[in-house]
Amino acid sequence: MERIKFASNVLLATLFAAAFLFTWSSALKEKQTCINDKSCDSGSQCGTCTGNVSVPPRCIRVQPHSPIRKVRGLPFNHYSWLTAHNAFARMGHKSDTGSVLLAPVNQQDSVTAQLNNGVRGLMLDMYDFENDIWLCHSFHGRCFNYTAFQPAINVLKEVQVFLEANPTEIVTIIIEDYVTTQSGLTKIFKASGLGKFWFPVARMPSNGNNWPTVDSMIQQNQRLVVFTSKSSKEASEGIAYLWRYVVENQYGTDGMKNGTCPSRAESAAMNSKTRSLVLMNHFPDTPDFIEACKQNSAPLITMMNTCHDAAGKRWPNFIAVDFYKRSDGGGAPAAVDFANGHLVCGCNNIDSCRAKMTFGDCDPQDASPAPAPTTLESGSASTSASASTSAAAKGSGDGYKKSFANSDGQQIRFKWLVGTGLIGIIYSLLVR
Ligand SMILES: *[C@@H]1O[C@H](CO)[C@@H](O)[C@H](O)[C@H]1NC(C)=O
Ligand SMILES: *[C@@H]1O[C@H](CO)[C@@H](O)[C@H](O)[C@H]1NC(C)=O
Ligand SMILES: *[C@@H]1O[C@H](CO)[C@@H](O)[C@H](O)[C@H]1NC(C)=O
Repeated sequence: MERIKFASNVLLATLFAAAFLFTWSSALKEKQTCINDKSCDSGSQCGTCTGNVSVPPRCIRVQPHSPIRKVRGLPFNHYSWLTAHNAFARMGHKSDTGSVLLAPVNQQDSVTAQLNNGVRGLMLDMYDFENDIWLCHSFHGRCFNYTAFQPAINVLKEVQVFLEANPTEIVTIIIEDYVTTQSGLTKIFKASGLGKFWFPVARMPSNGNNWPTVDSMIQQNQRLVVFTSKSSKEASEGIAYLWRYVVENQYGTDGMKNGTCPSRAESAAMNSKTRSLVLMNHFPDTPDFIEACKQNSAPLITMMNTCHDAAGKRWPNFIAVDFYKRSDGGGAPAAVDFANGHLVCGCNNIDSCRAKMTFGDCDPQDASPAPAPTTLESGSASTSASASTSAAAKGSGDGYKKSFANSDGQQIRFKWLVGTGLIGIIYSLLVR
């Protein structure tokens, strides 16, 4: 009897150890409980989103999978790109004027870091300021010292360095354009060295036809697509007028109402097939670091399905969010993989796509319709949202790890480890 009990204890202990070692040594998938970044799949970080200490940290995706590394040869409008709303408005950024910044922030990391994480659409607000063009978060089309981030050329140079170093990547810049200086934009694009990557307006289909293939864009080194919100600049400077090529849903809080996906005022109707690109905005009027966790999770997928129907059964080519790294697991990067799966090969995930496969010939587990959105485990996050947001914004600008996981996350991880350790000890005492 004693012998049997001893044997079963040994067996149990071995199983425990094996399970532990297995979890430790193999990369964890998104939403799985984790210990540190290294234990997660590449492209994920170990963190917490809800601020609830009872919810253990989990692997959170911060990078989409590159669709053009998976399948090439398709027109540009057959791919979806992760897009950073107000990509320049980074937490912890100080105004280059030396002034205090009194503008909201939308992202956690630099444009270079965003690009390295697979962001391929950058929304940038450009203003005349200080005899130059600045990235600014402002009102009435005027930039002030306390709303000015930095000269736009700095960020354009970051894009230039990225395109130079990554000869098969394509980047899209979408300018909210308040610049009235003659040829002002042309000058800074030239000065930044981005001129050589320019995708010419003449090659853009204005009638809803397919775009050139990504291969042709790459071969001709025309890997920078730029859109402006000012229609006159297409004729005067050769910068494409956004809404001649793109339909776009309402941005801000009005665009996040469940079940509807209306077009924004400047855009043609979402289902207008004379525009071959679809842009989906999904962010509130006031960026909210805490709530972005939830907004970029299940509601983003739900809205993508709604917008797909509103856009005449078209999946979005650009998915624009605040704090693109924040979610309860898959987030905006997974939404992009989902859209790419559908656009590229008719499956639920770009990972299922293979070169030259028959469209829709997916593995059985990928053939099902939209994934069931999961809900966030805790709704506890929202109460002190604005206070925490500004505190986090003041705290640090070095992205996710420093601003969140390292303070709260580290503590939560520690408490969680202690908690599980205790359970383990109690369990072994009981079994004995
Ligand atoms: C605004 O910033 C500029 C530098 O970009 C500086 O020369 C100027 O004095 C600042 N103005 C105020 C009111 O702080
Ligand atoms: C949003 O709408 C979908 C169906 O369109 C529904 O399944 C879901 O429960 C709704 N979510 C909320 C929070 O109302
Ligand atoms: C924290 O998460 C636990 C487990 O999911 C849940 O039972 C609890 O209600 C949550 N706490 C709050 C304050 O939401």
